Amino acid sequence: MEELQDEIKKRRTFAIISHPDAGKTTLTEKLLLYGGAIHLAGSIKSRKAQRHAVSDWMEIEKQRGISVTSSVLQFDYGGCRINILDTPGHQDFSEDTYRTLMAVDSAVMVMDAAKGIETQTKKLFKVCKQRNIPIFTFVNKLDRFGKAPLDLMDEIENVLGIRAYPMNWPIGIDGRYCGVYNRIKNNVELFASDDSHGQKERDSVVYSLDDEKLIENIDTDIYESLIDDIDLLNAAGEKWNDEKVAKGELTPMFFGSAMTNFGVKNFLEEYLRLAPSPQPHESTNGLIMPDDDKFSAFVFKIQANMNPAHHDRLAFIRICSGKFERNMQVLQVRNDKVIKLSQPQQFLAQDRQIIDNAYPGDIVGLFDPGIFRIGDTICDVKKKFRFADFPVFPPERFARVEAKDTMKRKQFIKGIAQLTQEGAVQLFEQPGAGMESYIVGTVGQLQFDVLEYRLKNEYNVDINITMQPFEVARWLELKNGMEVTPESLRGADRGMFVYDMKKQPVLLVSNEWALGWIIDNNPDLLLHNVPPDKQEV
Ligand code: G4P
Repeated sequence: MEELQDEIKKRRTFAIISHPDAGKTTLTEKLLLYGGAIHLAGSIKSRKAQRHAVSDWMEIEKQRGISVTSSVLQFDYGGCRINILDTPGHQDFSEDTYRTLMAVDSAVMVMDAAKGIETQTKKLFKVCKQRNIPIFTFVNKLDRFGKAPLDLMDEIENVLGIRAYPMNWPIGIDGRYCGVYNRIKNNVELFASDDSHGQKERDSVVYSLDDEKLIENIDTDIYESLIDDIDLLNAAGEKWNDEKVAKGELTPMFFGSAMTNFGVKNFLEEYLRLAPSPQPHESTNGLIMPDDDKFSAFVFKIQANMNPAHHDRLAFIRICSGKFERNMQVLQVRNDKVIKLSQPQQFLAQDRQIIDNAYPGDIVGLFDPGIFRIGDTICDVKKKFRFADFPVFPPERFARVEAKDTMKRKQFIKGIAQLTQEGAVQLFEQPGAGMESYIVGTVGQLQFDVLEYRLKNEYNVDINITMQPFEVARWLELKNGMEVTPESLRGADRGMFVYDMKKQPVLLVSNEWALGWIIDNNPDLLLHNVPPDKQEV
């Protein structure tokens, strides 16, 4: 029990959310560098290149130079065990990106100092906000010109609706910064010039605020503007509040530059001090505490075809309570079956290793012979319950998908059903269209590429994908409980009337304006962004 509690206390499990190019990969790499998991920054990228030279798993990833599915990185620092769940960093992100956020206890939001909050960050932020998890902000690229720190704070407040508490403050004027003022320690860190281009930990010198050497080392106007800023923050800034940070209402904000290592170590240390260890999860049995000695976990991601030669599928689980032991027997609740967890794996990028033990907060990959689905609970045989359902993400892109060769209809249906079950895409049927073609809904364009690739490689089916001009799906109900049909809906021809796989009626329309017309002309209609029995993000 004591061992379990110690292990829980040590763990920090988080994801980094950002818009592409804000510096998520670079920051992750620097955290690994400080954690001693790699020795020279840049090695993740070069390892990636090498790996592609010898292996061709997930061809798309290679072709487009992106990470299609999230990976998990684990390392130790300062007595903590850190699990970083990577979220795909391409603008065509998928549901996987959202689901990763269901498995973390906090999130780090990286933003480019010159760009502020961008679209993808906003979408991912929404999921974090709904989960009420703490959000830490890292304003990156301070080594070059960016927006003024106070303007960035305003942007967080106005665009995201949460308050920001600067933990440090850049020293300099107009984007030329020579160090940071640490508000917690009330000292100043000046960075030595460095010719390693951020490949190594950066040297710095720490001064107290009134140290004469500091005043000698920086220009008077810079020093004075720093003192003014500190006064302003202390007088008019948000006050620190642990509870608000824990609920994600106040974001500790750090300034730095991942590329030049400026502020990275301080960020890591403060983050580890403030970020929560594994948190309880809601279930049909009430809250499941991490230190409950009965093991439990849920599946948040299924990754197929990591090794095409073996038709390899891995189910990624997040451990919620108890100790995980290799070969343990657990209950897979949905199928009500006892299964043995053999070959559990952990990851450093794509390197896997078999593990013997793991604890709450850890992510483990289980070999999946096709028995797992996203959101599945696995738990101790003697204590059966289910974790709360995952919320559903409204699809935003739609395409008609059909097999090129009608002789392959059977494989096509089997493949597409399997991929839907895995949660890779959402499937709809158009009345009268038969089973030759489906309407497929996704949250990102990339999912269509993945669908095409997997149907070809795993089911040997070539498909035609015809994008449809819709961006909005609404599940339909009538207030009087009667069935909605294409005939009973005024203006059904302004969009496309389809059924989801549970035969629930759905209308696809091209924009909010078209939707407005439908609402105005069908006063008895109830519209839902996701199936009525599901919770929306
Ligand atoms: P992402 O994962 O969020 O998509 O971003 P990534 O880390 O790949 O960084 C995107 C670009 O921004 C990279 O440049 C990276 O070197 C640069 N970058 C990251 N952090 C900083 C920083 O603190 N300061 C500055 N000035 N640049 C930064 P690139 O030219 O696209 O790639 P590369 O040639 O450097 O690999």
